[in-house]
Amino acid sequence: MKMKGVSIMINSSSFGCLPDGRCVTLYTMKAGDFTVRVMNYGATLVSYCMGDTDVLLGYDDVTGYIKNDGYFGAVIGRFGNRIKKGRFTLNGREYKLFCNDGENHLHGGKEGFDSKLWTPVVKGGDTMRFEYFSADMEEGYPGNMTLSVEYTLSSDGTLKIVYDAETDKPTVLNITNHSYFNLNGCNSGTDIMGHTIMINASKFSLADSNCLVTGELAPTGGTAFDFRSPKKIGSVRDSGFEQSAYALGGVDHNFVIDGKNGDFRHFVTAEGDISGIKMDCFSDQPAIQFYTGNFINEGRIGKNGSRYGKHSGFCLETQNYPDAPNDPAAPSPVLDPGGKYHHETTYRLYR
Ligand code: GAL
Repeated sequence: MKMKGVSIMINSSSFGCLPDGRCVTLYTMKAGDFTVRVMNYGATLVSYCMGDTDVLLGYDDVTGYIKNDGYFGAVIGRFGNRIKKGRFTLNGREYKLFCNDGENHLHGGKEGFDSKLWTPVVKGGDTMRFEYFSADMEEGYPGNMTLSVEYTLSSDGTLKIVYDAETDKPTVLNITNHSYFNLNGCNSGTDIMGHTIMINASKFSLADSNCLVTGELAPTGGTAFDFRSPKKIGSVRDSGFEQSAYALGGVDHNFVIDGKNGDFRHFVTAEGDISGIKMDCFSDQPAIQFYTGNFINEGRIGKNGSRYGKHSGFCLETQNYPDAPNDPAAPSPVLDPGGKYHHETTYRLYR
Protein backbone atom coordinates (compact mmCIF):
# COMPACT_ATOMS: atom_id res chain seq x y z
CA MET A 1 0.00 0.00 0.00
CA LYS A 2 1.28 3.49 -0.84
CA MET A 3 -0.51 6.70 -0.03
CA LYS A 4 0.85 10.02 -1.15
CA GLY A 5 0.14 13.36 0.50
CA VAL A 6 1.96 16.62 -0.23
CA SER A 7 5.35 15.47 0.98
CA ILE A 8 4.05 12.64 3.13
CA MET A 9 3.87 8.96 2.41
CA ILE A 10 2.65 5.90 4.27
CA ASN A 11 4.20 2.54 3.40
CA SER A 12 3.45 -0.81 4.97
CA SER A 13 5.62 -3.87 5.53
CA SER A 14 5.49 -7.09 7.52
CA PHE A 15 6.60 -6.88 11.18
CA GLY A 16 6.35 -10.56 12.10
CA CYS A 17 3.53 -12.70 13.46
CA LEU A 18 1.88 -13.38 16.82
CA PRO A 19 2.12 -16.85 18.41
CA ASP A 20 -1.47 -17.53 17.25
CA GLY A 21 -0.44 -16.96 13.61
CA ARG A 22 -1.97 -13.52 13.07
CA CYS A 23 0.50 -11.27 11.29
CA VAL A 24 1.42 -7.73 12.19
CA THR A 25 2.00 -4.80 9.86
CA LEU A 26 4.39 -1.91 10.28
CA TYR A 27 3.35 1.43 8.80
CA THR A 28 5.97 4.03 7.97
CA MET A 29 5.02 7.70 7.76
CA LYS A 30 7.49 10.23 6.41
CA ALA A 31 7.21 14.01 6.47
CA GLY A 32 10.20 16.14 5.56
CA ASP A 33 13.13 15.06 7.72
CA PHE A 34 10.91 13.03 10.06
CA THR A 35 9.84 9.39 10.08
CA VAL A 36 7.34 7.60 12.32
CA ARG A 37 6.74 3.86 12.36
CA VAL A 38 3.72 2.34 14.03
CA MET A 39 2.33 -1.20 14.12
CA ASN A 40 -1.17 -2.55 14.62
CA TYR A 41 -0.15 -4.76 17.60
CA GLY A 42 -0.96 -2.46 20.54
CA ALA A 43 -1.26 0.44 18.04
CA THR A 44 2.38 0.74 19.09
CA LEU A 45 4.78 3.52 18.16
CA VAL A 46 7.90 1.76 16.93
CA SER A 47 10.11 4.66 15.73
CA TYR A 48 10.12 8.43 15.80
CA CYS A 49 13.09 9.75 13.88
CA MET A 50 14.62 13.14 13.24
CA GLY A 51 16.95 12.49 10.32
CA ASP A 52 18.87 9.34 11.22
CA THR A 53 18.22 9.61 14.96
CA ASP A 54 15.43 7.37 16.23
CA VAL A 55 14.40 8.59 19.69
CA LEU A 56 12.18 5.61 20.64
CA LEU A 57 13.35 2.45 22.36
CA GLY A 58 11.92 -0.66 20.75
CA TYR A 59 12.61 -3.90 18.93
CA ASP A 60 13.25 -5.13 15.39
CA ASP A 61 10.00 -7.04 15.09
CA VAL A 62 6.82 -7.80 17.00
CA THR A 63 8.40 -10.79 18.77
CA GLY A 64 10.64 -8.43 20.75
CA TYR A 65 7.58 -6.55 21.97
CA ILE A 66 5.83 -9.77 23.03
CA LYS A 67 8.86 -11.30 24.78
CA ASN A 68 9.80 -8.21 26.78
CA ASP A 69 7.70 -6.39 29.35
CA GLY A 70 7.48 -2.64 29.83
CA TYR A 71 4.73 -1.70 27.32
CA PHE A 72 7.25 -0.21 24.87
CA GLY A 73 5.53 2.36 22.61
CA ALA A 74 2.08 0.87 23.18
CA VAL A 75 -1.36 2.36 23.71
CA ILE A 76 -2.43 1.72 27.31
CA GLY A 77 -5.98 1.04 28.50
CA ARG A 78 -8.59 0.74 29.55
CA PHE A 79 -7.05 2.38 32.58
CA GLY A 80 -3.49 3.71 32.52
CA ASN A 81 -1.41 3.26 35.68
CA ARG A 82 -2.56 1.58 38.89
CA ILE A 83 -5.98 0.97 40.39
CA LYS A 84 -5.69 0.16 44.06
CA LYS A 85 -6.32 -3.50 44.82
CA GLY A 86 -7.97 -3.81 41.38
CA ARG A 87 -11.33 -2.59 42.64
CA PHE A 88 -13.59 0.34 42.00
CA THR A 89 -17.26 1.15 42.53
CA LEU A 90 -19.36 2.78 39.84
CA ASN A 91 -23.04 3.66 40.31
CA GLY A 92 -23.19 1.43 43.40
CA ARG A 93 -21.70 -1.67 41.81
CA GLU A 94 -18.23 -2.93 42.63
CA TYR A 95 -16.01 -4.07 39.76
CA LYS A 96 -13.05 -6.39 40.28
CA LEU A 97 -10.05 -6.24 37.97
CA PHE A 98 -7.05 -8.50 37.54
CA CYS A 99 -4.15 -7.58 39.83
CA ASN A 100 -1.05 -7.81 37.64
CA ASP A 101 1.22 -5.56 39.74
CA GLY A 102 1.45 -7.07 43.20
CA GLU A 103 -1.88 -6.38 44.83
CA ASN A 104 -2.81 -3.64 42.32
CA HIS A 105 -4.14 -3.48 38.76
CA LEU A 106 -1.77 -1.90 36.20
CA HIS A 107 -2.23 -0.55 32.66
CA GLY A 108 -5.46 -2.38 31.83
CA GLY A 109 -4.71 -5.78 33.37
CA LYS A 110 -3.64 -9.15 32.09
CA GLU A 111 -4.21 -8.30 28.44
CA GLY A 112 -4.62 -4.57 27.99
CA PHE A 113 -4.91 -2.56 24.79
CA ASP A 114 -1.12 -2.84 24.43
CA SER A 115 -1.44 -6.50 23.48
CA LYS A 116 -4.47 -6.34 21.19
CA LEU A 117 -4.30 -6.44 17.43
CA TRP A 118 -5.96 -3.21 16.32
CA THR A 119 -7.62 -2.65 12.93
CA PRO A 120 -5.52 -0.33 10.77
CA VAL A 121 -7.11 2.36 8.60
CA VAL A 122 -5.03 4.62 6.35
CA LYS A 123 -7.00 7.85 6.61
CA GLY A 124 -5.05 10.17 4.38
CA GLY A 125 -1.51 10.87 3.29
CA ASP A 126 -0.40 11.89 6.76
CA THR A 127 -2.62 10.01 9.25
CA MET A 128 -2.63 6.40 10.43
CA ARG A 129 -5.70 5.33 12.36
CA PHE A 130 -6.20 2.19 14.47
CA GLU A 131 -9.54 0.96 15.77
CA TYR A 132 -10.36 -1.49 18.51
CA PHE A 133 -13.59 -2.85 19.96
CA SER A 134 -13.37 -3.67 23.65
CA ALA A 135 -16.27 -5.90 24.69
CA ASP A 136 -18.38 -5.44 27.82
CA MET A 137 -16.48 -6.80 30.88
CA GLU A 138 -13.20 -7.23 29.00
CA GLU A 139 -10.60 -7.29 31.79
CA GLY A 140 -13.50 -6.67 34.20
CA TYR A 141 -14.47 -3.22 32.88
CA PRO A 142 -18.13 -2.55 32.06
CA GLY A 143 -19.45 -1.39 28.68
CA ASN A 144 -18.86 -2.24 25.05
CA MET A 145 -16.32 0.34 23.98
CA THR A 146 -15.31 1.53 20.52
CA LEU A 147 -11.94 3.15 20.38
CA SER A 148 -9.68 4.81 17.87
CA VAL A 149 -6.16 6.18 17.94
CA GLU A 150 -4.86 8.41 15.17
CA TYR A 151 -1.23 9.30 14.54
CA THR A 152 -0.50 12.30 12.34
CA LEU A 153 3.01 13.37 11.39
CA SER A 154 3.84 16.88 10.15
CA SER A 155 6.95 18.10 8.39
CA ASP A 156 7.81 20.38 11.35
CA GLY A 157 8.42 17.22 13.43
CA THR A 158 5.07 17.18 15.26
CA LEU A 159 3.56 13.79 15.99
CA LYS A 160 -0.07 14.24 17.01
CA ILE A 161 -1.93 11.44 18.80
CA VAL A 162 -5.70 11.62 19.07
CA TYR A 163 -7.68 9.09 21.11
CA ASP A 164 -11.48 8.80 20.90
CA ALA A 165 -13.82 6.39 22.68
CA GLU A 166 -17.51 5.74 23.24
CA THR A 167 -19.33 3.23 25.42
CA ASP A 168 -22.81 1.73 25.77
CA LYS A 169 -22.67 1.51 29.60
CA PRO A 170 -21.10 3.77 32.21
CA THR A 171 -17.42 2.87 32.55
CA VAL A 172 -14.04 4.33 33.49
CA LEU A 173 -11.05 4.90 31.24
CA ASN A 174 -7.65 6.52 31.04
CA ILE A 175 -5.84 6.02 27.75
CA THR A 176 -2.24 6.94 27.10
CA ASN A 177 0.87 6.03 25.13
CA HIS A 178 3.84 4.31 26.74
CA SER A 179 6.74 5.31 24.47
CA TYR A 180 10.23 5.34 25.94
CA PHE A 181 12.21 8.31 24.61
CA ASN A 182 15.96 8.70 24.49
CA LEU A 183 16.67 11.98 22.71
CA ASN A 184 20.30 10.99 22.18
CA GLY A 185 18.97 8.16 20.04
CA CYS A 186 17.82 4.65 20.88
CA ASN A 187 21.14 3.23 19.73
CA SER A 188 23.32 5.83 21.48
CA GLY A 189 24.22 3.54 24.37
CA THR A 190 23.57 6.43 26.77
CA ASP A 191 20.99 6.67 29.51
CA ILE A 192 18.61 9.58 29.97
CA MET A 193 19.91 10.80 33.33
CA GLY A 194 21.98 13.50 31.55
CA HIS A 195 18.94 14.84 29.65
CA THR A 196 17.40 18.06 30.89
CA ILE A 197 13.67 18.25 31.44
CA MET A 198 11.11 20.94 32.20
CA ILE A 199 7.70 19.82 33.50
CA ASN A 200 5.08 22.51 33.90
CA ALA A 201 3.77 21.14 37.21
CA SER A 202 3.46 22.78 40.63
CA LYS A 203 1.94 19.62 42.12
CA PHE A 204 2.54 15.90 41.96
CA SER A 205 0.88 12.82 43.43
CA LEU A 206 2.63 11.26 46.39
CA ALA A 207 3.25 7.55 45.82
CA ASP A 208 3.84 4.63 48.14
CA SER A 209 6.67 2.11 47.87
CA ASN A 210 4.63 0.15 45.27
CA CYS A 211 4.41 3.27 43.06
CA LEU A 212 0.68 3.52 43.82
CA VAL A 213 -0.60 7.05 44.41
CA THR A 214 -1.70 7.75 47.97
CA GLY A 215 -4.37 10.21 46.80
CA GLU A 216 -2.49 13.14 48.26
CA LEU A 217 -1.10 15.92 46.05
CA ALA A 218 2.10 17.65 47.18
CA PRO A 219 3.84 20.80 45.95
CA THR A 220 6.83 20.19 43.69
CA GLY A 221 8.36 23.45 44.97
CA GLY A 222 11.26 22.86 47.35
CA THR A 223 11.59 19.17 46.32
CA ALA A 224 13.77 17.26 43.89
CA PHE A 225 10.66 16.98 41.68
CA ASP A 226 10.48 20.70 40.94
CA PHE A 227 11.12 20.61 37.19
CA ARG A 228 9.44 23.94 36.44
CA SER A 229 12.82 25.26 35.33
CA PRO A 230 14.84 22.87 33.17
CA LYS A 231 17.18 20.59 35.09
CA LYS A 232 18.97 17.29 34.68
CA ILE A 233 16.83 14.21 35.17
CA GLY A 234 19.78 12.66 37.05
CA SER A 235 19.59 15.39 39.70
CA VAL A 236 16.91 13.33 41.48
CA ARG A 237 19.19 10.32 41.90
CA ASP A 238 21.34 11.72 44.69
CA SER A 239 18.70 13.99 46.16
CA GLY A 240 17.83 11.67 49.05
CA PHE A 241 14.16 12.45 48.33
CA GLU A 242 12.09 9.56 49.69
CA GLN A 243 9.67 9.74 46.75
CA SER A 244 12.56 9.19 44.36
CA ALA A 245 13.82 6.29 46.48
CA TYR A 246 10.41 4.63 45.93
CA ALA A 247 11.12 5.02 42.20
CA LEU A 248 14.51 3.29 42.56
CA GLY A 249 16.42 6.58 42.39
CA GLY A 250 14.47 7.90 39.40
CA VAL A 251 10.97 9.24 38.93
CA ASP A 252 7.74 7.28 38.48
CA HIS A 253 5.16 9.87 39.43
CA ASN A 254 2.02 11.64 38.34
CA PHE A 255 2.59 15.38 37.76
CA VAL A 256 -0.49 17.60 37.68
CA ILE A 257 0.04 20.07 34.86
CA ASP A 258 -0.55 23.75 35.64
CA GLY A 259 -3.35 25.51 33.80
CA LYS A 260 -6.83 24.26 33.08
CA ASN A 261 -7.61 20.59 32.58
CA GLY A 262 -9.01 20.28 29.03
CA ASP A 263 -6.98 23.20 27.67
CA PHE A 264 -4.35 22.13 25.19
CA ARG A 265 -1.21 23.34 26.96
CA HIS A 266 2.55 22.98 27.29
CA PHE A 267 3.41 19.95 29.47
CA VAL A 268 7.09 19.20 28.98
CA THR A 269 10.28 20.16 27.15
CA ALA A 270 13.21 17.72 27.26
CA GLU A 271 16.66 17.85 25.66
CA GLY A 272 19.20 15.15 24.89
CA ASP A 273 22.59 16.08 26.37
CA ILE A 274 24.60 14.53 23.54
CA SER A 275 22.39 15.04 20.49
CA GLY A 276 21.01 18.48 21.41
CA ILE A 277 17.65 17.19 20.13
CA LYS A 278 14.75 18.77 21.98
CA MET A 279 11.20 17.54 22.37
CA ASP A 280 8.06 19.38 23.44
CA CYS A 281 4.95 17.66 24.71
CA PHE A 282 1.54 19.36 24.71
CA SER A 283 -1.75 17.80 25.80
CA ASP A 284 -5.28 18.50 27.01
CA GLN A 285 -5.08 15.97 29.87
CA PRO A 286 -5.01 16.75 33.61
CA ALA A 287 -1.59 15.20 34.28
CA ILE A 288 1.40 13.19 33.12
CA GLN A 289 3.20 10.12 34.44
CA PHE A 290 6.90 10.89 34.18
CA TYR A 291 8.63 7.52 34.36
CA THR A 292 12.41 7.17 34.02
CA GLY A 293 12.53 3.54 32.91
CA ASN A 294 13.46 2.28 36.39
CA PHE A 295 12.26 -1.26 35.75
CA ILE A 296 13.95 -1.93 32.40
CA ASN A 297 16.09 -4.96 33.10
CA GLU A 298 19.79 -4.68 32.25
CA GLY A 299 21.17 -6.21 29.10
CA ARG A 300 17.90 -6.30 27.23
CA ILE A 301 18.52 -6.34 23.47
CA GLY A 302 16.59 -3.77 21.46
CA LYS A 303 16.65 -2.38 17.92
CA ASN A 304 19.74 -3.17 15.88
CA GLY A 305 21.29 -5.13 18.74
CA SER A 306 21.43 -2.14 21.09
CA ARG A 307 21.44 -2.94 24.82
CA TYR A 308 18.90 -1.34 27.10
CA GLY A 309 18.75 -1.16 30.89
CA LYS A 310 17.62 0.98 33.79
CA HIS A 311 17.11 4.62 32.66
CA SER A 312 17.66 3.89 28.95
CA GLY A 313 14.51 5.85 28.19
CA PHE A 314 11.79 7.93 29.80
CA CYS A 315 8.02 7.92 29.32
CA LEU A 316 5.71 10.91 29.21
CA GLU A 317 2.29 9.35 29.74
CA THR A 318 -0.32 12.10 29.38
CA GLN A 319 -3.23 10.97 31.50
CA ASN A 320 -5.84 11.39 34.20
CA TYR A 321 -4.66 10.74 37.76
CA PRO A 322 -3.72 7.14 38.60
CA ASP A 323 -6.39 5.39 40.67
CA ALA A 324 -8.89 8.14 39.70
CA PRO A 325 -11.83 5.68 39.98
CA ASN A 326 -11.13 5.56 43.75
CA ASP A 327 -10.23 9.23 44.19
CA PRO A 328 -13.17 11.64 44.51
CA ALA A 329 -10.75 14.59 44.24
CA ALA A 330 -9.46 13.47 40.81
CA PRO A 331 -10.99 14.66 37.55
CA SER A 332 -13.79 12.19 36.74
CA PRO A 333 -12.60 9.17 34.74
CA VAL A 334 -16.21 8.12 34.02
CA LEU A 335 -17.50 7.83 30.48
CA ASP A 336 -21.29 7.50 30.06
CA PRO A 337 -23.28 6.29 27.05
CA GLY A 338 -23.76 9.25 24.70
CA GLY A 339 -20.56 10.87 26.02
CA LYS A 340 -17.32 11.07 24.07
CA TYR A 341 -13.81 10.54 25.38
CA HIS A 342 -11.37 12.69 23.41
CA HIS A 343 -7.69 13.13 24.20
CA GLU A 344 -5.04 14.93 22.16
CA THR A 345 -1.32 14.86 22.78
CA THR A 346 1.54 16.11 20.59
CA TYR A 347 5.25 15.52 20.69
CA ARG A 348 7.57 17.66 18.55
CA LEU A 349 11.25 17.09 17.85
CA TYR A 350 13.52 20.00 16.95
CA ARG A 351 16.96 21.45 17.58
C1 GAL B 1 4.83 2.91 34.09
C2 GAL B 1 4.57 2.81 35.56
C3 GAL B 1 5.74 2.06 36.16
C4 GAL B 1 5.91 0.70 35.51
C5 GAL B 1 5.98 0.87 34.01
C6 GAL B 1 6.00 -0.44 33.27
O1 GAL B 1 3.81 3.61 33.46
O2 GAL B 1 4.43 4.10 36.10
O3 GAL B 1 5.58 1.94 37.55
O4 GAL B 1 4.85 -0.13 35.87
O5 GAL B 1 4.89 1.60 33.54
O6 GAL B 1 7.14 -1.16 33.54
